[in-house]
Amino acid sequence: MFERELAELKRRHLARRVISRDTPQGPEIRIQGRRRLNFSSNDYLGLANHPEVVRAAAEAAQRYGFGAGASRLLCGGSGLHRRLEDRIAAFKSTGAALLFNSGYAANTGIIPALAASGATIFSDELNHASIIDGCGLSRAKTVVYPHRDVGRLSSLLAREKGRRIVVTDSVFSMDGDIAPLGEIHDLCRRQGALLYIDDAHATGVLGRGRGGLAHFGIDPDPMILQMGTFSKAFGSFGAFAAGGEDVITWLLNTARSFIFSTALPAPVIAASLKAVSLVSRHPSLVRRLWENRQMLAEGLRDMGIDISASETPIIPIKTQSVRDALRMAASLGEAGIYAPAIRPPAVRQPRVRITVSAAHTERHISRLLSALRRYGKR
Ligand SMILES: Cc1ncc(COP(=O)(O)O)c(C=O)c1O
Repeated sequence: MFERELAELKRRHLARRVISRDTPQGPEIRIQGRRRLNFSSNDYLGLANHPEVVRAAAEAAQRYGFGAGASRLLCGGSGLHRRLEDRIAAFKSTGAALLFNSGYAANTGIIPALAASGATIFSDELNHASIIDGCGLSRAKTVVYPHRDVGRLSSLLAREKGRRIVVTDSVFSMDGDIAPLGEIHDLCRRQGALLYIDDAHATGVLGRGRGGLAHFGIDPDPMILQMGTFSKAFGSFGAFAAGGEDVITWLLNTARSFIFSTALPAPVIAASLKAVSLVSRHPSLVRRLWENRQMLAEGLRDMGIDISASETPIIPIKTQSVRDALRMAASLGEAGIYAPAIRPPAVRQPRVRITVSAAHTERHISRLLSALRRYGKR
């Protein structure tokens, strides 16, 4: 049925395929029958296969079984779900929190709920696809502002009356740069706008693990709502909204992806609880991540590879064409390294996206640097 369309995707080198892994997530994996060093995952702290996380999930399966059987509102949730919400509210220093089944479900449920009474949304042009889809589902007027351009955002905000919501990623997932949250927050406060941040790649990474607001020294307040995921630095699955009690109660009553979807299985929740506790108890995990990030970034810069966009463990190497990105990923593959080519429509400019984690060793990073040497200018 879609023969012509698929042929066109192939012709433009944009056809995708699913890659299966035969080993747990980690710095060394086996995919397609070959062992590879893995620089593709968002498991920034190496918790996806941490023995305590795995044990917590197994014990929860013994106690609660697996499937939740129904939405939270129909008793699909266990006491663990409630405990994770309390834990996240404490971790983020907010009045309350609410779980969602994924980051995608959070953004597509929360944004329409926030914009329900005729608000205008202001969204950074490089926000994640789930934010773009959330804005679309809301049917609210959405003004897209140039990437990280607070001056432009300010003049656009001043033109609109009524409820206004500014939506931004804290860390942009394909460029690895950080939103100027301090300036955006000041602007929102002056203008009386609600600030909604997607902290998916900042939680567990920035602000000693507490996320984007902590990184900028911003105290949570009722006009800020944070969304974050358990699927990245926490190595688990699912997401949360954290904010004031009234906005969280509003979401519980109106966010359709929360209301009309079965609760996450208790073992997933137990894994997330354990991961949050590990991040809180072991600040060395986040320190290690940043040491590794520094080692890799310095090595790349020394070789003359331009990584100027990146400020975080997400380090894209941009290329002129899709074919160049595919060639670079293939040559890394030959050297036993997995780092994927990212192509339109996920990004405008093709790139190989490298992510480094706390679980990588110096030897892993040196091997990646050797494999990339031929792309350096020095
Ligand atoms: C910024 C951002 N928000 C939301 C999501 C979606 O999160 P999840 O994978 O938990 O659905 C992702 C990741 O895929 C992301 O990068």
